[in-house]
Amino acid sequence: MTVVWFTGLSGAGKTTTARELLSQLREAGIKTELLDGDELRAGICKGLGFSREERMENIRRIVYVSELLSRNGVVTLVSAIAPYREMRDYARSAIDNYVEVFVECPLEECERRDVKGLYAKARNNEIERFTGISDPYDEPLHPEVTLHSKEDSIGNNARKVYDWLEQAGYIHLCREGMA
Ligand code: ADX
Repeated sequence: MTVVWFTGLSGAGKTTTARELLSQLREAGIKTELLDGDELRAGICKGLGFSREERMENIRRIVYVSELLSRNGVVTLVSAIAPYREMRDYARSAIDNYVEVFVECPLEECERRDVKGLYAKARNNEIERFTGISDPYDEPLHPEVTLHSKEDSIGNNARKVYDWLEQAGYIHLCREGMA
């Protein structure tokens, strides 16, 4: 089955969109799970910081779990920044049917939202290596789907991914798996 990886800046709307897709898929009777970066960093990735190496280790663990789940017929949604291209290339190579969803949102808009108050802290140098401010975010070059969270609603964006999965045949595959 597939792993749908939502990548984008902090505050771009990765988790919110993934949660909405999760309920759309569940409503359609499809087995699905969400691995959320923030939650994992409080659990199996606890203690990992934001250096290049630690972010890479974070991604390695997420790839491992998502591959296990998807191999067992679960449509696995991941919301994690995965800021470096190298990480996403690794995820793509390690996971069959990796689908990259770029949740595009201008930095200014993420900063304006500042849902967790982290951008303000990063600007004050209270947080080091903050993605988009003091650490890079390599924009995806060839994502399967690009969403624009400033312009489009969460529901429409989730539906756009759902429709992409349907057209690619994954929804149909899930139904067959359930039969
Ligand atoms: S990743 O870079 O390793 O992919 P991940 O998605 O797991 O990041 O975690 C990002 C979340 O950690 C952000 O949404 C934010 O809440 C929090 N965070 C804390 N410090 C940082 C930082 N320096 N850079 C980015 N996110 C941070």
